[in-house]
Amino acid sequence: MKPKVFITRAVPENGIEMLREHFEVEVWSEEHEIPREVLLKKVRDVDALVSMLSERVDGELFDAAPRLKIVANYAVGYDNIDVKEATRRGIYVTNTPDVLTNATADFAWTLLLATARRLIEADSFTRSGEWKRKGIAWHPRWFLGYDAYGKTIGIVGFGRIGQAIARRAKGFGMRILYNSRTRKPEVEKELGAEFKPLDELLRESDFVVLAVPLTRETHHLINEGRLRLMKPTAILVNIARGKVVDTEALVKALKEGWIAGAGLDVYEEEPYYHEELFSFDNVVLAPHIGSATHGAREGMAELVARNLIAFKNGQIPPTLVNR
Ligand code: DGY
Repeated sequence: MKPKVFITRAVPENGIEMLREHFEVEVWSEEHEIPREVLLKKVRDVDALVSMLSERVDGELFDAAPRLKIVANYAVGYDNIDVKEATRRGIYVTNTPDVLTNATADFAWTLLLATARRLIEADSFTRSGEWKRKGIAWHPRWFLGYDAYGKTIGIVGFGRIGQAIARRAKGFGMRILYNSRTRKPEVEKELGAEFKPLDELLRESDFVVLAVPLTRETHHLINEGRLRLMKPTAILVNIARGKVVDTEALVKALKEGWIAGAGLDVYEEEPYYHEELFSFDNVVLAPHIGSATHGAREGMAELVARNLIAFKNGQIPPTLVNR
């Protein structure tokens, strides 16, 4: 008899197909997230679970899933999982690093440039007919933004994604500052990146990009005091996790002009719907789509399947989080 896996969302078919050969597969195929009480029932007799970042995978879920041996998170971040508790119970946890690095780094740059060059404002100006209504073909002072080329970028969190953002910054002739738990001498050499204490990085950067995992230490890392350190011409980009930024402080910073703008893909609460951020023209808001390319999402589905198949074959899953 094949072991059972429950997948909490319709991930790309390539991964599901791979899994069908080895597992009895059930997929939650509704667009909406699986209600918690349904999830707790679904996991009752499963050996493996494929979870999304929107599901809390914790002691309560493990209690409801006595046969569960492995949780494969369909994300590189795994702050939705109580890894310590999983480890204590001998349950493997895996994630999906590498395959989404370039897509996410590209998206950080998409947000950075869209915010710096006021792309969304300009798009609605064009699309709404406002441009036509004005009847002016070109104006030397319209939609002035900020230069990226040759400026200073500060990357907070210098793992795979942070480094990939830095590689792109090199092409933009930028001075690259970074802050992370450990220094990366090889990347410093390769890209000329400079390690900086966080406060210095914030003071010196024209663009601050957040690429840190959410942990107890990074919760509200960017708070009122730190936002006040940034240049009034600087732009903050967050492609990490919403809780890395204190939203209330960010709103204050934008209102009072401590910074020039923000490009956000992640929020303290998702889905995000708070008028306060919507009221700023200098903020670009995306609905957590950093890794949303066909290639990355298919890569993630394949890696999830490879992890589960390795586990089923008695091997160590390739991207195990809890060793
Ligand atoms: C991740 O992988 O952690 C992203 O936030 C979703 O793809």
